[in-house]
Amino acid sequence: MRDKVVLITGGAGGIGQAAAKLFLNEGAKVVLVDINESSLAKAKESLTDNPENVGIIQADVTKEEDVKKYVQETVDQFGRIDVFFNNAGINGPVAEITDLDKDTFEQIMSINVTGVFLGLKHVLQQMKKQGHGRVINTASNAAYIGSAGMVGYIASKHAVAGITKTAALETAPLGIRVNAVAPAAIDTQMLQDIQNNLTPGEPEKSGEALKQGIPVGRFGAPDEVAQIVRFLASDEASFVHGALYNVDGGMQAD
Ligand SMILES: NC(=O)c1ccc[n+]([C@@H]2O[C@H](COP(=O)([O-])OP(=O)(O)OC[C@H]3O[C@@H](n4cnc5c(N)ncnc54)[C@H](O)[C@@H]3O)[C@@H](O)[C@H]2O)c1
Repeated sequence: MRDKVVLITGGAGGIGQAAAKLFLNEGAKVVLVDINESSLAKAKESLTDNPENVGIIQADVTKEEDVKKYVQETVDQFGRIDVFFNNAGINGPVAEITDLDKDTFEQIMSINVTGVFLGLKHVLQQMKKQGHGRVINTASNAAYIGSAGMVGYIASKHAVAGITKTAALETAPLGIRVNAVAPAAIDTQMLQDIQNNLTPGEPEKSGEALKQGIPVGRFGAPDEVAQIVRFLASDEASFVHGALYNVDGGMQAD
């Protein structure tokens, strides 16, 4: 990954930061995009002793102007985009279909689906000019299953799987590879929010119940997702295209 330029959305979050750390350790230049400005600044401080290798850009992935801005600023700063980790996402509240308001549903779809689409639209334009690039979208175990109380998230991650396959077919002849990771139960702020939502004030209670549904009996670490993202970004994955890679402690096997 030496001198590769890696762009990561949701870069101030748990999985985004773990990926940034891994790529930086291998000598890449990394640009973190996130809506949360203070988390971005903290992430930059904690990530590396070489701040010149890290860019941070505050942007909302649902706004096309912001997406154009993060693509342009990355190219201005580092000259190109070799790897795009299209990863920003939210979970949304736990509520059954009959109780979920339209605005909340649309907000989840906007970040998890429109954000992924817009990122691809503008990053792929740049990668087409370059004649190379690697994209990894963040899908989820939720791309395969239903889950009561999670309609927005489930619908959005099914959509990310479809977008990944479509983008892979459109870029196959162009030297660009597009794949997705499909994590489940990774120990980040998102998972902590889900636990607090399920058993308010007693997150460990729902945490234990959730672990019982994971064949390996534990949550995953963000770095365990980052390792697969790194693999999909590398030449070792040269014939992997349009794939969803599960990182879920065996949940899909169950
Ligand atoms: N943690 C898990 O168990 C798990 C499982 C499956 C999939 N995922 C997916 O992994 C990805 C990363 O999640 P995470 O677990 O690191 O959670 P996280 O909450 O730590 O990180 C998500 C990041 O996305 C950012 N974000 C949210 N809305 C944004 C917007 N409109 N524009 C720009 N940035 C925005 C947040 O500020 C946050 O920093 C998400 O797509 C999530 O759906 C997570």
